[in-house]
Amino acid sequence: MSKTATTKLDVETEASERFGKLNLVHSEEAPRTGDYDTHFYAGQDEVSEDGILRINSEYRAKSTVPDFLPTWDPREKLPPLEFHEYHDPGLRADPSFPNLFPEQLQDQYKTKRITPKLGTEVRGVQLSQLTDAGKDELALLVAQRGIVVFRDQDFSKAGPQGVVDYAKHFGKLHVHQTSGHPENVPELHITYRRPDHKEFERVFEQDISSIFWHTDVSYELQPPSYTFFNVLEGPNGGGDTLFADAFEAFDRLSPTMQEFISGLHVIHSAYEQAENSKGAGGVQRRLPTAHIHPLVRVHPVLKRKALFVNESFSRRIVELKKPESDALLRFLYDIVGRTHDLQLRANWEPNTVAIWDNRRVQHSAVVDWEEPVHRHAFRITPQGERPVEDLKYLNDKNYYGEEVPR
Ligand SMILES: [Fe+2]
Repeated sequence: MSKTATTKLDVETEASERFGKLNLVHSEEAPRTGDYDTHFYAGQDEVSEDGILRINSEYRAKSTVPDFLPTWDPREKLPPLEFHEYHDPGLRADPSFPNLFPEQLQDQYKTKRITPKLGTEVRGVQLSQLTDAGKDELALLVAQRGIVVFRDQDFSKAGPQGVVDYAKHFGKLHVHQTSGHPENVPELHITYRRPDHKEFERVFEQDISSIFWHTDVSYELQPPSYTFFNVLEGPNGGGDTLFADAFEAFDRLSPTMQEFISGLHVIHSAYEQAENSKGAGGVQRRLPTAHIHPLVRVHPVLKRKALFVNESFSRRIVELKKPESDALLRFLYDIVGRTHDLQLRANWEPNTVAIWDNRRVQHSAVVDWEEPVHRHAFRITPQGERPVEDLKYLNDKNYYGEEVPR
């Protein structure tokens, strides 16, 4: 991403009866989005004779999991995402987890809390073997713990289509606007850092940190509920993922501040990420979008409030003047990013699958290794409910308005 580029974010919406006609025109420096590992890069990657964009042949030959390598087809065009009802599988789950952790197998599995309130590591449970009831319990466990790290999984052995079919249980799967996916498996979102110095220049040339806190594609009408993430190849140590608990972040605020921010709403934008992809010579599969979401959302399973703003995609609090919005967003970003006692650091062993709840946590990649190592992972993201400030609006199609026009 060029740090000198200025992005004009002209936002005006008549969509919201709640706010009346908004006039939020402003321009600002292009925000940091940290999506370097998902775009095609012209000159570094290749264009095949069939017009498909691919990682270059030298790096493809080095991959031990070529079926999962990203491709980008400039001809692939998708319509806008449409509202649909979402019923969280966690609501169907038996809270005693009889299918996920059967009593008769208790000597075979081991669970360990990563921190008291956030994160659990599980060994001895094979995700691929779960029944539908077990998958419902998995969703509930992930909601309750924010992130669950499963070790020694055979998950990726099902292949790209197999893992996608597995995850369909959890909701309608999201297809990303710009990222690469294995050919003919659009629901798989690939992150791939090339074993190349350019990969590091992109991150550090204009910046001193690789940390980009975010929740995945929060700009969508219905951002993901759960994210499944499997690192296929990576450095020997490093390349961890940071997580922060947005429930805890909200709970730390004073009652007065909690009440104030609970009535606010925020524009989340996909435009800058789209421009980054375009600037690198990449694709635009679906027209970029922006949506207004509540600043504090209520979790449909746990009924708890979470801060729902993130530095990568949140742009403006619609009820406030711009300097007020900037100051308050900065304050909230810093709570998430700098409050280490509501965070954890998940590390990756071979065959680790992590599943997290995007309504509950924010996360960031960590780039702390050196070439020539490639880091290759896949993500699957079921779309969740449209974020709501009150569960009475859950699955209400008319919950303030449509897309924010550019
Ligand atoms: Fe992410």
